[in-house]
Amino acid sequence: MSKLSVDISNIYEFVSNKQVFAYKEEMIRNQELLETKTGKGNEFLGWLNLPSSITSEELGKIDNVAKDLISKSEVVVVVGIGGSYLGAKAAIEALNNSFASLCNNKNNPIVLFAGQNICEDYHKELLELLDSRSYSIVVISKSGTTTEPAIAFRLLKQHLEKKVGKAEASQRIVAITDKSKGALRKLADQEGYRTFIISDDIGGRYSVLTPVGLLPIAIAGFSISDMIAGARDAEKHTSADVRFDENPACIYAAARNALYRKGKNVEVMVNYTPKLHFLTEWWKQLYGESEGKENKGIFPAGVDFTSDLHSMGQYIQEGERILFETVISVGSPIKNLVIPDDPDNLDQLNFLSGKRYSEVNRMAELGTILAHIDGGVPSIKITIPELNPYWLGYTMYFFERACALSGYTINVNPFDQPGVEEYKKNMFALLGKPGFEAKGKELRKRLGEF
Ligand code: PA5
Repeated sequence: MSKLSVDISNIYEFVSNKQVFAYKEEMIRNQELLETKTGKGNEFLGWLNLPSSITSEELGKIDNVAKDLISKSEVVVVVGIGGSYLGAKAAIEALNNSFASLCNNKNNPIVLFAGQNICEDYHKELLELLDSRSYSIVVISKSGTTTEPAIAFRLLKQHLEKKVGKAEASQRIVAITDKSKGALRKLADQEGYRTFIISDDIGGRYSVLTPVGLLPIAIAGFSISDMIAGARDAEKHTSADVRFDENPACIYAAARNALYRKGKNVEVMVNYTPKLHFLTEWWKQLYGESEGKENKGIFPAGVDFTSDLHSMGQYIQEGERILFETVISVGSPIKNLVIPDDPDNLDQLNFLSGKRYSEVNRMAELGTILAHIDGGVPSIKITIPELNPYWLGYTMYFFERACALSGYTINVNPFDQPGVEEYKKNMFALLGKPGFEAKGKELRKRLGEF
């Protein structure tokens, strides 16, 4: 099976091959820290050998629960935020028909999400939609105490119980949470929901290849076995046994760190298919939460081309020279569409007649990379042959591994996220949570008392 390729030839006008290869020894050390579980955050390495250790029985159990929910539901609402949301969303968007929600595919329910924001309109409109649909719920929270999914689940649970009765609702709710801790575990045990466990040693943003990602992906109708097969190959191809120069995770981690050292503080993930928009969102969380701490870390940003060439393209071409880009290039599209000839040729575009859409997109990609290099933006290119479950599983594992290696390179713990607690404290204080009174008073004063 072929590897995902990482092409760094378009960064050499900015950093030398020698500067990238200067990271070789460090990457070998970092790989050892991971495999011997002796680096920072080593209690969160459950994801590392997950693809090779997950069994077909475990995958079968996920598929069986998915089949049951599929048979009962027009819609499945997945409740979760951050790492308990983005992996499933990214995979489903990447693999689905672009217009899945309008396609009337009778085989699989539409997967919708809730609790990934606290927007009143979003949740009210969701409930209004669900009034007339048969639906089930997958509620995902490792801690079982996160505010956004917890309040969304309150709403949905009550809505579903009212609609189908408590007994039937408990058959239509599946919880994915800690094996023993947290409010969701308690509730699931009390109500008799079916559950899957998120292992203690896997953090949210590294959990896409656990039931957190796999159950919603299976419900949407995609092969989780193929996804794991891809991830398993990625685990092999990025392991410590693979030489630095043949190891895509090491090369990517080394290249981005070489650029970072040269003042390229922002990495812009670029795609040329809108299906990858949420893969970028998932990647932003993975890299942003893993590296952005102790006043360090590359800022992960994302654009969808060619749409954003008509907006952010200007900044990338001519703004502050603090950027490098990482292009995810997909080898071939799944479908075939040819640009028609137009006898009037008023738009003067008949030179494109007979060409495939993907050829135009490819030339946009190649031309843009060169323009950006000329404008001072180095470009890393990651190529996957096609968008299918195998390559998605491969790509996601590859990014996880490279992220851990990168985090160790800047000497941070890539598996914690202490910074995300600050907003929560302020929000609770402003909402009058017991125990936060003094903080609430202080914040209201700063906000000009309201
Ligand atoms: O990466 C992380 O750990 C976070 O993004 C969490 O996944 C997110 O905060 C949701 O947490 P929980 O699953 O505990 O509700």
